[in-house]
Amino acid sequence: MNTLLFYYYISYFFRRKTIYSVHSPFVYEFISKIKKNQEAQCVSRIISKHRRRLIRNSNSIETVDFGTGSGDKKYTTYLERINKLAKKRSLSKHETKLLYSMAHCFDPKTTIELGTAFGISTSALALANPRSKIYTIEGCANIMAIAEANFQRLDLKNIESLIGEFDHVLPKLLKQIETIDMVFFDGNHRKNNTLQYFEWCKQKANTDTVFIFNDIYLSREMKEAWNIIISDQQVTISIDLFYFGLVFFRSGIEKQHFILKI
Ligand SMILES: C[S@@+](CC[C@H](N)C(=O)[O-])C[C@H]1O[C@@H](n2cnc3c(N)ncnc32)[C@H](O)[C@@H]1O
Repeated sequence: MNTLLFYYYISYFFRRKTIYSVHSPFVYEFISKIKKNQEAQCVSRIISKHRRRLIRNSNSIETVDFGTGSGDKKYTTYLERINKLAKKRSLSKHETKLLYSMAHCFDPKTTIELGTAFGISTSALALANPRSKIYTIEGCANIMAIAEANFQRLDLKNIESLIGEFDHVLPKLLKQIETIDMVFFDGNHRKNNTLQYFEWCKQKANTDTVFIFNDIYLSREMKEAWNIIISDQQVTISIDLFYFGLVFFRSGIEKQHFILKI
């Protein structure tokens, strides 16, 4: 944990509340359901097999760094070992279980994921709701090929993988979709890009939609983006779980923000 993340964690730690202090029936019920989800453990074991396979794979692939490019050359291409990349880019076991439980609880019909990487989180989303449709977007074709092999191994038929930059693929995808029920934002952790994707997706949100942001405390930029997102007029409920930030667009309720322990 770097110094900034540690500082943010300490600040979260002293402000977080348990669900027993939550007065919103919607939030109370949602958090209780996530905590009680027994299936998450079993699904986590299935996904762990894929994670172990990646960790054992020391082959190198050519990949693109979309998140940290700077200067004139926006993106950099480099060779990296699959196991190193998988450790760096995938959700942890705990986060995967949490994401599965959330997706299971909300039962979304249409989900968009920004940032597939090796498909750890995509598999959790797909296993949580086999009847839902998951659109997952990844800019690096080599990485997506490994994720797709895993989707086949797990016999996941409800995933549509899209290769390309979010800036190009997301607007096209949104044009084809009437409404979205869930979005998992887990790629390109720059402030302005995150806010742009939020604005685009918000136009297709309905009153039951949930947006889940990963890495809200990754950097000052991400923390600023998160603060702007939770202040948005259309966001009525927001929940800070440290690992994830959730926002809801439920109508007819007072705007509320929760910092919760899970
Ligand atoms: C943190 S990883 C996703 C991890 C994945 N959700 C998981 O937990 O298994 C982020 C991914 O987003 C991709 N990405 C980042 N910025 C992108 C952009 N602008 N366009 C397309 N893909 C991008 C990266 O290549 C990377 O694989």
